[in-house]
Amino acid sequence: MKCVVCRGPAIIDVRRANANFCTDHFTKYCRDQTARAIHEFDMLDPADRVLVAVSGGKDSLAVWDILIGLGYQADGLYVGLGIGEYSDTSGNHARAFAEARGLHLIEVDLPTEYGYDIPTGARAARRAPCSACGTSKRHVFDASALEGGYDVLVTGHNLDDEAAVLFGNVLRWQTEYLARQMPVLAARNGFPKKVKPLVRLSERETAAYCIMSGIDYLVDECPMSAGNRHLGYKDALNTIELQSPGTKADFYSGFLRRASQLFRSAHHDLGPGTDELTHCERCGAPSTSELCAFCRLVDKATAATSNSGDEAQPVTLRPRSHAPRTAGERTNTEAEARP
Ligand code: AMP
Ligand code: FES
Ligand code: ZN
Ligand code: ZN
Repeated sequence: MKCVVCRGPAIIDVRRANANFCTDHFTKYCRDQTARAIHEFDMLDPADRVLVAVSGGKDSLAVWDILIGLGYQADGLYVGLGIGEYSDTSGNHARAFAEARGLHLIEVDLPTEYGYDIPTGARAARRAPCSACGTSKRHVFDASALEGGYDVLVTGHNLDDEAAVLFGNVLRWQTEYLARQMPVLAARNGFPKKVKPLVRLSERETAAYCIMSGIDYLVDECPMSAGNRHLGYKDALNTIELQSPGTKADFYSGFLRRASQLFRSAHHDLGPGTDELTHCERCGAPSTSELCAFCRLVDKATAATSNSGDEAQPVTLRPRSHAPRTAGERTNTEAEARP
């Protein structure tokens, strides 16, 4: 097996590109694919101050590493979710990565700063852990990006993630979600711009990138994600991909090129109107009710913590340093592309 670029010994095949690569050219391939996505969707400007949400897993550490390699000014944000040993270890990986490279990592710990953890929050709100977790992370991502004055928030969602979400949305014809499923969400209503630069790379490729680049990432999946529908969709797509390499990328990129605009046009009036949208009276986030979804979750979770007789943590909802976010067109915070 030879590298398609230098004819030296190859160590990885990328079947959908019908190509084998050596370490150097595979790393370059990953950087090029990321740069291409950034360019294609106008994700980042060279002068942008970028905040990368890092979980300690392969995707977010890879995207942070690639962005730094491409010359972007990028800090990291780690959210401590209080999921036992899993969270302890993931935080250690994020910290070790930042320290080794002299990068700045912002840390927000839910139990310390908001008085609850994801298992308690999910139980108290009677929601699936991933749903309570999603609400919490989105709130902290938005708030931290705005408080820190960042131009854009980056997440490590990869091709497998986006194709699986797309698959789920298509299976149920969730056209509103399809209208919103874009790798770039523009800044609006006081929300930061959000981008997913890894949409051209698969999970296998980001893992290989980390191994080849000496990035020590947390391999374990979140223990609360067992049974998550998206894992099943990923497996189904992988079975198809094995039979015909390239199907997954065609499915996702074909949607972006040929279908997504149709759903956006059909739903251009989607979401709450300006009159219905206000801001959360406690934290200032755009909301359709007095308290936003995050603050309601915090209330339920912290009430459950004190009722259980556990030593209650002080609730210190961090006041926003900026004026309450104004209502405007539609919002994507309380219902993002994921069902
Ligand atoms: P997930 O929702 O777990 O599939 O993660 C998707 C992306 O969200 C990751 O690639 C990260 O960019 C970000 N992310 C997930 N968990 C965390 C966390 N605990 N702290 C900061 N960012 C996270
Ligand atoms: Fe959020 Fe597992 S990382 S529930
Ligand atoms: Zn080569
Ligand atoms: Zn709020």
